[in-house]
Amino acid sequence: MSDTLRRATKAVIPAAGNATRFLPVTKAVPKELLPLIDKPVLEYIVEEAAAAGADDVLLVTARGKDTMVDYFDARPDLEAFLAEKGKDAAIEAIKAPERLAEIHAIRQGTALGLGHAVGRAAAHVGDEPFAVLLGDEFCDLGDALLPRMMDLQAETGGIVLALMEVPKEDVARWGIASVAPTGDADIVEVTGLVEKPSVDEAPSNLSLIGRYVLPGSIFPVLDATEPGSGGEIQLTDAMDTMRAKGTPVHGVIFRGKRYDTGQPTAYLQTLVELATEREDLPGFNAWLREFSATLD
Ligand code: G1P
Repeated sequence: MSDTLRRATKAVIPAAGNATRFLPVTKAVPKELLPLIDKPVLEYIVEEAAAAGADDVLLVTARGKDTMVDYFDARPDLEAFLAEKGKDAAIEAIKAPERLAEIHAIRQGTALGLGHAVGRAAAHVGDEPFAVLLGDEFCDLGDALLPRMMDLQAETGGIVLALMEVPKEDVARWGIASVAPTGDADIVEVTGLVEKPSVDEAPSNLSLIGRYVLPGSIFPVLDATEPGSGGEIQLTDAMDTMRAKGTPVHGVIFRGKRYDTGQPTAYLQTLVELATEREDLPGFNAWLREFSATLD
């Protein structure tokens, strides 16, 4: 079977950034391990990959971020301690991340951009299709965005992106796609991609959110990609090169629930939202209502 007709089984999570928006805590704690109550952001991302069928996960990491890999490791010492105390629920909680996926890691070395980080996965992924999940946001598992993208990629053999409408004035923060309809309201053909365009140059207000399913043939293209926006090697540019040379590129329009953790305000909103949905935090919602009433 040709590699283009296989469904992706591997996921790559670029997680080498310095997370300057969260300094000083990110001096010592990777942003990906910031807690959403008692579970780190990264576990939600790995859950999303595993639920879509990608349970081989490569983390592209950096110096000082090895605790991300430790988090998915077994802790027989802690298990024995908890067993002695009869804390079975806690044992289940610490084993959940271990069971999710097989975790691999590679260092990015030098921070040369998202395209460079994804390129570091070449040896691990080979010529298979693979998913890329950026760590700043995760989707509600009920929305099945990634499984849908992986199914579509297995049909086309090309590139599949997740797209979302953003306010026109915000386009310079994102990769932006120009698109043509396909007859399916949720799937578009991508006719052009540009990384962080100015408002005047933007071909639409459809932004790339951090989910991609890519063919292994992108690796040599990434290698040959020159620095672009911000002086960095951009994944967007490599994908647009492939598109221009005939690789089919489709976008799945995302209309579901997305949790943003990429900057402090959004992280805090996500944290509070998740807390309100938990049944084991007695009194939190009542407190939040009372507290909100005291705000102007
Ligand atoms: C990256 C991509 C960009 C995409 C964004 C989604 O940008 O380069 O195309 O829209 O992720 O989060 P970054 O946020 O790393 O600057």
